[in-house]
Amino acid sequence: MLVTTSASDGICTVTINRPDKLNAMNIDVAKELIRTFEALNRNDDIKVIILTGEGKKAFSAGADIEYMASISPEESVDYAKTGQLVTSTVELARQPTIAAINGFALGGGCELAMSCDIRIAADTARIGQPEVTIGIPPGWGGTQRLLRIVGIAKAKELVYTGKMISAADAEKIGLVNKVVPLDSLADEAANMAQQIAANSSMAIQMSKTAINNGRNADLNTGLAVELLAWRNCFTHPDRKDRMTAFMEKKK
Ligand code: COA
Repeated sequence: MLVTTSASDGICTVTINRPDKLNAMNIDVAKELIRTFEALNRNDDIKVIILTGEGKKAFSAGADIEYMASISPEESVDYAKTGQLVTSTVELARQPTIAAINGFALGGGCELAMSCDIRIAADTARIGQPEVTIGIPPGWGGTQRLLRIVGIAKAKELVYTGKMISAADAEKIGLVNKVVPLDSLADEAANMAQQIAANSSMAIQMSKTAINNGRNADLNTGLAVELLAWRNCFTHPDRKDRMTAFMEKKK
């Protein structure tokens, strides 16, 4: 299995399982990631998703260079479209997503992490978009999501130099939320996932929709989406139950 899942207490960990190739995402890995996230999207029992890579060395070293070395321009478009579908499918997951970056997150690996809602990195992680060093630009959403997360100047610096940065430097520019020792990465991601899972899934889903849509829209459009998200929650029993519990001083 190139992608494995394990779930408990409403939290599903999705693991890219190709450690001998530093979890590089060939076409099979990409398609399995899409299938996995589509299935999770239909699963109401899952409240939070953690995405990580097998082993202690890599989250993912990106798209498969061995494959790309021999493909035609037409085939490269198909591959990039599949890669963009991976990152869009992850970004649009109904559940909140946490990337637990356990090592190299390069190229498509960085792009995959950026399509998650939250990124926690091991102190050993190295992150970057090295595509220009092998003659291509980022093609799985990197030119677009990086600039939205770290701003245009830092995005251009990272993409043009192709350099890898440390987890600590990634935190400084807002590319990762938090840096933790490698050995506690899984626990830290699980703790945050549990904290999120204890809250209203409906309210989180609506918040995610409003933030993701608002990011690419003008303020008034974003506020209109927020209003719809807000109203939707008032039609959901969770809102009533949680507010009543508060009024009755219950947990
Ligand atoms: N695609 C395909 N295979 C990859 C890969 C990728 N993106 N990244 C690593 N691998 C493979 C290596 O070819 C090697 O396979 P082998 O053992 O059969 O020879 C294996 O993974 C281990 O990688 P290796 O390069 O030996 O490890 P390292 O510790 O010396 O270096 C990296 C680690 C991450 C610095 C290096 O592998 C690298 O630069 N990878 C490419 C990163 C990249 O440019 N990604 C963007 C692609 S668009």
